[in-house]
Amino acid sequence: VRSFVALADIPVTHILHLLERAQFFFQHKDSLPPLLKNKNIALLFFEPSTRTRVSFEMAALKLGASVINLTSEHSSIVKQESLSDTLKTIQALGADGIVLRHRDDHACELHAPILSIPLMNGGSGKKEHPSQGLLDLLTLIQEFKKLEGLKIGIIGDIKHSRVASTLIQVAPLLKLELHFLAPSELLPSELKSSTWSEILNCDAVMCLRYQIERMEEIFDLKKIQADYCLTLKRAQQMKPGAIVMHPAPINHQVEIETAVVESSRSRIFKQMELGVYARMSIYEYVFNLGPKI
Ligand code: CP
Repeated sequence: VRSFVALADIPVTHILHLLERAQFFFQHKDSLPPLLKNKNIALLFFEPSTRTRVSFEMAALKLGASVINLTSEHSSIVKQESLSDTLKTIQALGADGIVLRHRDDHACELHAPILSIPLMNGGSGKKEHPSQGLLDLLTLIQEFKKLEGLKIGIIGDIKHSRVASTLIQVAPLLKLELHFLAPSELLPSELKSSTWSEILNCDAVMCLRYQIERMEEIFDLKKIQADYCLTLKRAQQMKPGAIVMHPAPINHQVEIETAVVESSRSRIFKQMELGVYARMSIYEYVFNLGPKI
């Protein structure tokens, strides 16, 4: 069984194949094949989500699947049922594949081996968000027609971000150059801090939300705004052709000004649109329904 757990565990040739297939689905959005006809996809989102859950659902429906949704508060998890038993139950009830979002960093890698159907990672803890990583790469490919050598600046709450963690793991494999800027307490010690001028010299600047819900201490957002917000004034100093990205949800005027979100450099809503096609390529991949790699 082929699952989709962590982007960095997938061979580079397969990542490039997934990106090609996502572009194929995007180009054929008006005549999509019913690849998932007779398949039932279970979406188990045990942390809040708008984009990831809806785009996995939209991708499944557009490829002909049926979909069921389960949240932790409406499941027997509230009666202390374990995650293992929950996943095995959904499999026993007839799901062909499961998409899981969970607060535990290792939820998917621990549970994929106990299932005989594909498990797809919809975001686990602070560590992995491979479908977001794929759509981020897809956005970069669409914009720049290549990945190798691109410079990506990442600003904001890097410590708690599974989006940043995913990109950090795949960057060396794809020869992306990453630069980081964050308040010192939110920059993992192994990462070197860049300056604003280095960030603004990147091909893409990705802003990240401050994840107050994952912080142990009270964090004063107002204090960091002046130093770390991508303001319109700063964005105007980006190099020609450079783009702004954000996985969203956005805290406007905290990590990014609304004027930048709405500016011509912004690819934030494009990322969301492309996310549907990235997830189609994931379904095709795990069910082995596409061209041979
Ligand atoms: N980018 C992202 O994962 O958004 P959601 O939490 O809304 O799914």
